[in-house]
Amino acid sequence: MIMTKPLDGIRIIDFTHVQAGPACTQLLAWFGADVIKVERPGSGDVTRNQLRDIPGADALYFTMLNGNKRSLTLDTKKPQGKDILEKLIKMSDVMVENFGPGALDRMGFTWEHIQELNPRMILASVKGFSDGHHYEDLKVYENVAQCAGGAASTTGFEEGPPLVSAAALGDSNTGMHLAIGILAALHQRNKTGKGQKVSAAMQDCVVNLCRVKLRDQQRLDRTGVLEEYPQYPHGKFSDVVPRGGNAGGGGQPGWVLKCKGAPADQNAYIYFTIQEQAWEATCQAIGKPEWAKDPAYCTAKARQDKIFDIFAYIETWLADKSKFEAVDILRKFNIPCAPVLTMKEVANDPSLRASGTIVEVDHKVRGKYLTVGSPIKFSDLKIEVTESPLLGEHSDQVLTEMGYSDHYISELHTNHVI
Ligand code: COA
Repeated sequence: MIMTKPLDGIRIIDFTHVQAGPACTQLLAWFGADVIKVERPGSGDVTRNQLRDIPGADALYFTMLNGNKRSLTLDTKKPQGKDILEKLIKMSDVMVENFGPGALDRMGFTWEHIQELNPRMILASVKGFSDGHHYEDLKVYENVAQCAGGAASTTGFEEGPPLVSAAALGDSNTGMHLAIGILAALHQRNKTGKGQKVSAAMQDCVVNLCRVKLRDQQRLDRTGVLEEYPQYPHGKFSDVVPRGGNAGGGGQPGWVLKCKGAPADQNAYIYFTIQEQAWEATCQAIGKPEWAKDPAYCTAKARQDKIFDIFAYIETWLADKSKFEAVDILRKFNIPCAPVLTMKEVANDPSLRASGTIVEVDHKVRGKYLTVGSPIKFSDLKIEVTESPLLGEHSDQVLTEMGYSDHYISELHTNHVI
């Protein structure tokens, strides 16, 4: 049986750099697209050099975002480079870019020109802010987007400053949104034969993930309080959604609780959730069966003003249990919880390795390294994660496939076009 992949036959010009764009195209490469990363000769994507841990080897920043791709170096500001890019556009399905505002236009590749070259082409762009936004001219990195999207003002603790998240809400998250847009545009093109421009702005994609905070702003406007926040009922609310610490954020109160070894071990914690329908089981689990029917405890409303006392009691119960032992007990009672895992524990987690979410890849220069695999699993596709390409590793191969002669390719090398 011949194994096919969902995106077999789709060619993508990957004109991306840093994280947001490369995360998008790497996902599409995992799904089978032929992703050709177009990079500036000599230097390539800046992340090849950023935060290097092995002299002379592409940095993990690059290798972990550019697996399963081919690398073509091309100076697209030189006439021969422009000609080659035009030909590549004619032969491809999608072009993804995340240059600073206006850079693609300045290079001569406006959306109008791309459509003239190939009406079936899908042009997918990441920018910091959306077209027409009063900040549309700004260059944007991860944390800028987290702040502009409302996430930072609602993250952290009441007494601290706004806080950014370690999760790449601005970068990789926007790349994932863009990938969804590209797949929808490809689906529509199958019916209409026509490509279109797909854009995802980092601020918008952060806002999309902050929808529950927008929910809370409107509730706060109406009622003046947010009952599930730690500020309720003993603290004060202003007119903006406060920082919620580790509060559950939905209908179920939750918090990060100390286990054996904390706080000396900064990660000896679990996340514990008090689910209304699991209250009786929770009381059994934590050795307080008498709370199950006690009117002072048996409803969410009754528990509300003493929720932190309840969490404090649960911490006494947790004091002689490691985070893993605690979760092993609590899972038997159907309590939604998890150990707070360090990145070291994530890297070595046997289940994440078995599922292909963390994979080891062999790279011809740096040797073995860990990277993320697809978090999306298919019944009919086993995703093979392969090493990232060296700078220009596939230039000759791609240009030969495009029909250029060996003689012309060597001239391009001499002229530093590739
Ligand atoms: N050949 C010739 N020139 C090339 C090239 C190639 N193969 N690839 C890129 N370039 C040029 C571009 O044409 C542009 O030149 P110009 O400014 O003279 O027009 C330049 O290289 C790249 O500019 P820019 O994308 O603005 O890079 P930067 O390093 O100054 O900024 C970002 C980096 C990420 C801040 C910026 O690209 C950005 O805001 N991108 C959109 C938002 C985004 O994706 N941010 C998150 C990244 S994780």
